[in-house]
Amino acid sequence: MFPLIEIDNVSKAFTIRHNRTNSLKSSFIGIFHKRFRETKETLWALKNVTLSVAPGETLGLIGRNGSGKSILLRLIVGIYRPTQGQVRFPNGARVGAMIELGVGFHPELTGRENVFLGASIHGLSRGEVEEIYPGVVEFSELDSFMDVPIKNYSSGMHARLGFALAINLNPQVLLVDEIFAVGDEAFQRKCIEKMEEFRGEGKTIIFVSHAAETIKNFCERACLLDHGSLVFLGAPSKAIEEYHRLLAS
Ligand SMILES: Nc1ncnc2c1ncn2[C@@H]1O[C@H](COP(=O)(O)OP(=O)(O)OP(=O)(O)O)[C@@H](O)[C@H]1O
Ligand SMILES: [Mg+2]
Repeated sequence: MFPLIEIDNVSKAFTIRHNRTNSLKSSFIGIFHKRFRETKETLWALKNVTLSVAPGETLGLIGRNGSGKSILLRLIVGIYRPTQGQVRFPNGARVGAMIELGVGFHPELTGRENVFLGASIHGLSRGEVEEIYPGVVEFSELDSFMDVPIKNYSSGMHARLGFALAINLNPQVLLVDEIFAVGDEAFQRKCIEKMEEFRGEGKTIIFVSHAAETIKNFCERACLLDHGSLVFLGAPSKAIEEYHRLLAS
């Protein structure tokens, strides 16, 4: 069977600027004083990552803060392009939704407006959004908050709306970035049940979590990233073991 997603020797670099100057005066001072001069540094957020994801697979991503997990998801969903290497979808998969806290919603808009905007960005017509809207409200349990601007939501409420919208977009691949950290227990359980339902329908799930138990219970394989490199890929329990070894070292 063809893999659904092929990540082929992918690296991603960012340029970090120190002493960024935005005035003529400070640029001028920089000519004479090295300490004030703008310098650039290249940061490799991902280094030569090769990985393929099978259709229907549930893959967990673990690693320390800043190890490159979110960047990898963003490369898959197409928010970023690789600096080197390629991300391919041999079957032309529709990588639908990415759920990431604090991303994708406009803080000044209400919950309702964000659902309409978010869904239309994913290509749904107004009629289609109207069809899924009640399901989004029901799953999020935010009925009385749909007309409140998102900036007044708690982080848990934000996560609820993000998850509810993403699953109602009915994507072939669901990318979930660390949302369990803020949801209460009841909501976490509901999310896991929904993800199990997705898995039952043969959908692919890639999710980032710092919760070892969730990774062990839910994933078929897990991938451990460290400083942008893939250091382990295989059985979730082994990946967690390696992760704990890294944390201790
Ligand atoms: N837009 C950006 N510009 C510059 N550097 C970035 C950018 N986005 C991410 N990085 C850097 O890339 C590295 C990997 O970041 P990433 O967000 O993937 O980490 P992570 O594994 O998701 O961490 P966490 O567990 O904290 O969520 C970090 O060093 C981060 O500072
Ligand atoms: Mg992250």
